[in-house]
Amino acid sequence: MVQKDLQTEPESLDRVDGRPKVTGTATYSAEYAVGNLAHSVLITSTIAKGRIKNINAKAAEESPGVLAVISHLNSPGVPGYPPAKQPAEPAPVGTAFRVFYDELIYFNGQPVAMVVAETLEQANHAASLITIGYEIATHQTDFEANLSKSAVALSVQRSKNSPFQDYGRGNPEAFDAAEVKIEATYTIPTQHHQPMEPHAIIAVWEGEDKLTVYDKNQGVKSAQGNLAQAFKLARENVKVNAQFIGGAFGSGIRVWPHTVAAVLAAKKLKRPVKLVLGRELMFTSVGYRPYTVQKIAIGASKNGILTAMNHEGTGQTSAYEEHLERTILATRAMYACPNVFTKYRLLNLDVNTPTWMRGPGDATGMFALESALDEMAFALHIDPLEFRLQNHADTDPERNLPWSAKSLKECYELGAEKFGWKNRLPAPRSMQKDGMLVGYGMASSLYGFHRHPSKARAVFSRKGSVVVQSATMDIGPGTGTAMTRIASKILGVSPGKIRFDLGDSSLPDAPGQNGSSTIPSVGSAVHVACEALKTKLLKLASEIPGLNLQPDQMTIKNGRIFNLTDASGGISLSDVLKYHNLEQVEVTEESKSGAERDQYSMYSFGCHFIEVHVSPLTGEVRVKRVVTCADVGKIINYKTARSQSIGGIAGGIGMALMEASVMDHRFGRYITNDFVSYHIPVYADVPQIDVIYVDKPDVHVNPIGSKGLGEIAIVGVAAAIANAVFHATGKRVRDLPITVEKLI
Ligand code: MOS
Repeated sequence: MVQKDLQTEPESLDRVDGRPKVTGTATYSAEYAVGNLAHSVLITSTIAKGRIKNINAKAAEESPGVLAVISHLNSPGVPGYPPAKQPAEPAPVGTAFRVFYDELIYFNGQPVAMVVAETLEQANHAASLITIGYEIATHQTDFEANLSKSAVALSVQRSKNSPFQDYGRGNPEAFDAAEVKIEATYTIPTQHHQPMEPHAIIAVWEGEDKLTVYDKNQGVKSAQGNLAQAFKLARENVKVNAQFIGGAFGSGIRVWPHTVAAVLAAKKLKRPVKLVLGRELMFTSVGYRPYTVQKIAIGASKNGILTAMNHEGTGQTSAYEEHLERTILATRAMYACPNVFTKYRLLNLDVNTPTWMRGPGDATGMFALESALDEMAFALHIDPLEFRLQNHADTDPERNLPWSAKSLKECYELGAEKFGWKNRLPAPRSMQKDGMLVGYGMASSLYGFHRHPSKARAVFSRKGSVVVQSATMDIGPGTGTAMTRIASKILGVSPGKIRFDLGDSSLPDAPGQNGSSTIPSVGSAVHVACEALKTKLLKLASEIPGLNLQPDQMTIKNGRIFNLTDASGGISLSDVLKYHNLEQVEVTEESKSGAERDQYSMYSFGCHFIEVHVSPLTGEVRVKRVVTCADVGKIINYKTARSQSIGGIAGGIGMALMEASVMDHRFGRYITNDFVSYHIPVYADVPQIDVIYVDKPDVHVNPIGSKGLGEIAIVGVAAAIANAVFHATGKRVRDLPITVEKLI
């Protein structure tokens, strides 16, 4: 078992793009200097359901600088939408929201019109002059009040093989027969991604059939495909640029209506148009983590062996689309339990569609499962860590397959040791410090393995530099840094001479950055491309007479090719190209999964140990210490990996203690719509975090042995905190966030 940290991995690279980011020279989507740019603002509905009766835009249109007021009344139309019906008919479930399409209102905050003007100030002023008349229909936005209307998603009903079908293994009566039982309901409120950079786009048409967008998103290739489809353009005629992204957390995985609106406006005006969503619009425009209620029933024997787990999850979705996530799936694979039953339901409400956010599904589901495990351990008078070890799944109990690799036991061991778990006194309220109640909590973590076909191009030029390219993204984790590290190690070229290009749809095909899939997918492509480039360079060198380079002995180091037996001989890479009269040597390679997907079950695993202090007077919870340990296969670059883990923990602290999007159901409108009312962790809320990786390559998953790291860091954190709060106070909070009123 290798245990490394920053001190023991001094060769860890700093962020290759750190300097432009911190000095402000990195260009974000809204910052591109495009000539003749028009500015736009969206006007959004103030009712949650009904129809637009009239739009009075006359004063706005006559206002100085205004170029157009666009709505369903005069939209040039999105060619990919079917023709609107007269009178309008509600979109069938499964239809992505169509912007400026007809007069129907599906949610409060829906874009209904757009003002485009010479300046942002003129657009804003004109927007204030527009009045819209609505015919209001009764809306339903209250999840709890409508829970009885939840149902199996239509998409699941239509797909026999959906993982969201009701699932069962073993005996359905096992829970009733269990010696010890726990039954509880856990609730997660709607939460929003809240990246620092709001979503933004500059749309530029070059003629009738060529579109370029500078758009904040998490996948230039999928955005390209989406926009090509919407505007009926050839794929290669759509260029999507998104080189720098100021965080996204899932909000940029799909193309949202505001993007289409800006492209429409630019088309109508034959002028570049910029649209930046203000913080308030970020609550209704780019998805959110859905409100989710979960019922868990766990049975165990008196000596602490799990005998039954029943898990039912119900998530919120819009009236027009179904968003499903992994909520109940972890329960099937996490522990060795013979009798497991899961159900997944959706509740359609008059709200905008949710989307993936920060460990989607698993972060939600593992809050419930790992809280329930803690409740059971307490009922059994067994240490929570011991309970998990006793029920460790040595093989995947869901698929009956061996794990590709699993070092969860090492994670438990390393984490518990570093944290000092053995010092925990079992009884709630039994530990105190400085007048505060002290709680120790822990939880397990898992995250599915996602690998998508990816391409990379690697080019060595005679100057001695390397350029590696792929249409992948960096929404913050440091993609370019990790890829540079991979390329540098294989090619024997120093990182300073390597450039990694991303965030441009004209680069070789790659998946978007989501599902913690970038290193497993694109890292593998960079690996195979660099290996192929190396092979080519070695072959070229071996063809040079007089050097006596032996194919089985050659290596590259510090930009030179030489025989391992004679480090003083050989030739520089640049001279190899010079000899062959080549300016550059280039390869493009693809990497993708194979049959191993059917032979092994692949997950990242981990655990968190967390100490909280709770004020007995005010109920304030402070997270004092976190030890997080993960087995994600091989770590590519410790420094950026560790930053990802810290970010995930910070997200978990927010999820556990602060984040909640609160709606006033009289209007179906969020009343938390800024950072004054929607709380996220600030620097003072995030304590010292010890990050430990097992760092053993998983030889079955891909050529580099690395699994996803970004999202496993948040999964389980909310449960570990809730468990620590219970240990500190004796109060079990099952509905997040754990705010003071729930503890007093
Ligand atoms: Mo992540 S929620 O897959 O960006």
